[in-house]
Amino acid sequence: MKIKIMLRKYSEVLKKLLSFGKYSSVTYKERTITLGENEFLIRVVEEKDIKELLAVERDVYFGQVPWTRTAFLTELRSFAPHLYLVVVYQSEVIAFLGVRAQNRDAHITNIAVRSDFQGRGIGHFLLEQARDFGEGQHAEQLSLEVRLGNKEAQRLYRRFGFVSDSIMKNYYNETDEDALTMLYSLKEAEKSQ
Ligand SMILES: CC(C)(COP(=O)(O)OP(=O)(O)OC[C@H]1O[C@@H](n2cnc3c(N)ncnc32)[C@H](O)[C@@H]1OP(=O)(O)O)[C@@H](O)C(=O)NCCC(=O)NCCS
Repeated sequence: MKIKIMLRKYSEVLKKLLSFGKYSSVTYKERTITLGENEFLIRVVEEKDIKELLAVERDVYFGQVPWTRTAFLTELRSFAPHLYLVVVYQSEVIAFLGVRAQNRDAHITNIAVRSDFQGRGIGHFLLEQARDFGEGQHAEQLSLEVRLGNKEAQRLYRRFGFVSDSIMKNYYNETDEDALTMLYSLKEAEKSQ
């Protein structure tokens, strides 16, 4: 009898370990969008995409990868509800977004668009997906950190409806750069719909 109970417990733990990471990835229906003359596929990130995510990072961060393979893996396998998306153009990953919900906050962990695809509305589209995710999670706000010197990204966020919140001194370890935190109220977005 004791052995039976132990075996059952063991199989429950094993099941949990095997499904690790599948619990909290939110369902997202793959879709295509047309921007200008080009068609893009939007789908959830798979672990096999990480190599390409790193390539997008290297492209936009001057050869650096602020997010390593391990960082991506940790996020993709997280129990916190999350949505990681890639934008694919002709079988190549050209952009990605990461957003994770905790309490009443949906935090954008990462957003990047390969430099040759910037300025076409992909960043804006990805922010809309983050907003839909946040609303689906009943979050009250979207939040993000951005380098104080990254005026281009800040302009996009402001145009979308984000407002500045606070400055975090020396937030980025490698460069000691400050971060600006920005917030987007989902409650107000709800009201205006
Ligand atoms: C920030 C970033 C994600 C924005 O992505 P993007 O795809 O270029 O964003 P969008 O195209 O939606 O918007 C960028 C600008 O192009 C404009 N734009 C969008 N579609 C356009 C079109 N069809 N024609 C002309 N301009 C267009 C937007 O109005 C916006 O202008 P603005 O900056 O004056 O507001 C991208 O620049 C990037 O990856 N940067 C490097 C990584 C980074 O800084 N990430 C953010 C970390 S917090």
